[in-house]
Order: sequence, then C-alpha cells, then structure tokens
Amino acid sequence: MAKVALIGAGNMGEALIRGLLEAGFKEDEIIFSEVRDERRKYIKERYKISDTKDLAELTSIAQYIFLVVKPQDAEELLESLSPLVTEKNVIVSAMAGLKISTLSSILGEDAKVIRIMPNLSVAVKEGVIGICRNRNVNNGEFEFLKKTLQNLGLVIELKEELFDALTAYAGSGPAFFLFFLEGMVEAGVKMGFSKDSAFKMAEKIVSGTMKLMASENLHPSILREKITSPGGTTIWGLAILEEKAFKGAIIKAFEKAERRARKLSV
Ligand SMILES: NC(=O)c1ccc[n+]([C@@H]2O[C@H](COP(=O)([O-])OP(=O)(O)OC[C@H]3O[C@@H](n4cnc5c(N)ncnc54)[C@H](OP(=O)(O)O)[C@@H]3O)[C@@H](O)[C@H]2O)c1
Repeated sequence: MAKVALIGAGNMGEALIRGLLEAGFKEDEIIFSEVRDERRKYIKERYKISDTKDLAELTSIAQYIFLVVKPQDAEELLESLSPLVTEKNVIVSAMAGLKISTLSSILGEDAKVIRIMPNLSVAVKEGVIGICRNRNVNNGEFEFLKKTLQNLGLVIELKEELFDALTAYAGSGPAFFLFFLEGMVEAGVKMGFSKDSAFKMAEKIVSGTMKLMASENLHPSILREKITSPGGTTIWGLAILEEKAFKGAIIKAFEKAERRARKLSV
C-alpha cells in the first residue's frame, strides 16, 4: 500500500521523489498525480512508480499527500481535494507562500496540514527543509514526516512566521552564492586561467573550504582569520570587499528577498 502521494511532479516533485527513493522508500510506497502527459510518462519510466488521475484513489491509499503544484494551481486542486480528505490523511504542502490558514480555509478546519519549504538540493539528499504544522497533526504523524524528510537533508522546525525568511535564506541563498561563484570564475579568467580551469578550481576551492570548516568545526570568521596573514595577499583583497560593503550587500539581498516573499505570501 502506498504511504506517500505527490500531486505535481515538476522540478520539486521530482526532487522529492528522487530523494524519497534514495532514502529507502520502495517504488510501491509512492504514488503520484501529474496533469502533463509527457512529464507523467517520464516520471513513471524513470522512477518505476505508479500514478493516478483519480484523487479519490490517491487519498484512499496514501496517508501523506504532498502538494507540489504551482501556487496559482492550488485553489482548484484544494477544492477538488477538500471533500476527499479524511482524518487519515496528512496534507503536506510544499507550495511557497501559501499559509496554513489559507490551506485550511479550503480543505476544512479539521484537515491535518503540514507546511514544508524545501530547496531543490533535496534531490541529492542535501536539502534544507523548514517544517511546521497545524494543531490537527499529532506528534506521531509529525515525527514520522520529520524523520522521513531528514533523509533528504537538514530539517528545521520553524514557526510559520519565519517561512518567508527561510524562502529567502534556503530558496534564494543558493542563487546568491552562485552569483559570487560566477564572479570568482570571471576573476580567474581575467587573471589568465582558462574558463574551464577557473571553474574547476573555484568548485574545489569552495568544496574544500566547506569540508575544512566542517572537519575542524570552525566558525567562518575563525577559519578566514587563519588564512589572513599579516601584510599578506588576503588582507589586501578583503580590504577591498570591506570598502565595497560586501557583507552589508549580502545582508540587504536576503532582507529584500524576505520582504518579497512576504509580499507574495497569501
Ligand atoms: N522549484 C523549487 O526550487 C521549489 C522550492 C520550494 C518550493 N517549491 C514549490 O513547489 C511547487 C512546485 O514547483 P515546481 O518548481 O516543481 O513547479 P513545476 O515544475 O511547474 O511543477 C508543477 C507540476 O504540477 C503540474 N500540475 C499542476 N496542477 C496539477 C494538478 N492539479 N494535479 C497534478 N499535477 C498538476 C504542473 O503541470 P502544468 O505545468 O501543466 O501546470 C507541473 O508539471 C510550487 O508551489 C513551488 O512554490 C518549489
């Protein structure tokens, strides 16, 4: 019997399916529903899991039902699900910006609702996943889902008020970091390395630094100080970053993304 269902198998739906399978779920414990035909065929063939268009079937076999459609498709889906959801089902919404109160206003105040905010790295089991629940979800159900999601990355239980901050931090954060990486590759090319070697080196510099930080359990500023010798090259470069208010710009970028997430939230 399927335990988990996903409605919507786009980018995030597929990432969750991949993560769940890698985490040890059997193919027959996952079922999905996807409106786009070619996408449905691709998911079925690639992951060998079954699908259904029938939401009544889906709610009767699966306990945990992940909603992974775009927020603009949510209302229609929630209205179709509303008469079918029973106290056996736990609705797990991954839809950005949709508050639990909005979901419950359509699904019914008795519906068990968990809200998660994952990022795409769940596909490689290195995601960051915020989670919160309404009071209808019992401890056993909540712990089961947390434990399941822990196989896909770092699970952080948060008050719902912090979900917009998490959207900025874990959702947009990777893009900010990649923007820095682009700059680093361009700097390498400017200094004469080929684009390919600049990229390969930048990748290793970043992964090596992260590994070192983790293995020595150091705060970034402590490790950075270790690399900054008096009168050396690093301090001269860092002085430029300070002059350009590098850290301030990063903080402002996150704050702006959070404000945008709050504005889009309903
Ligand atoms: N991508 C991310 O990094 C990320 C991160 C956090 C949260 N999320 C959330 O995850 C959700 C999905 O995002 P995504 O990037 O995966 O979007 P996506 O690639 O567009 O995937 C959604 C899929 O669901 C299908 N769909 C729409 N209505 C459906 C229905 N009633 N039943 C079954 N399938 C349906 C869509 O088909 P059509 O294209 O034909 O409509 C599409 O194939 C969004 O709410 C988003 O906020 C995404």
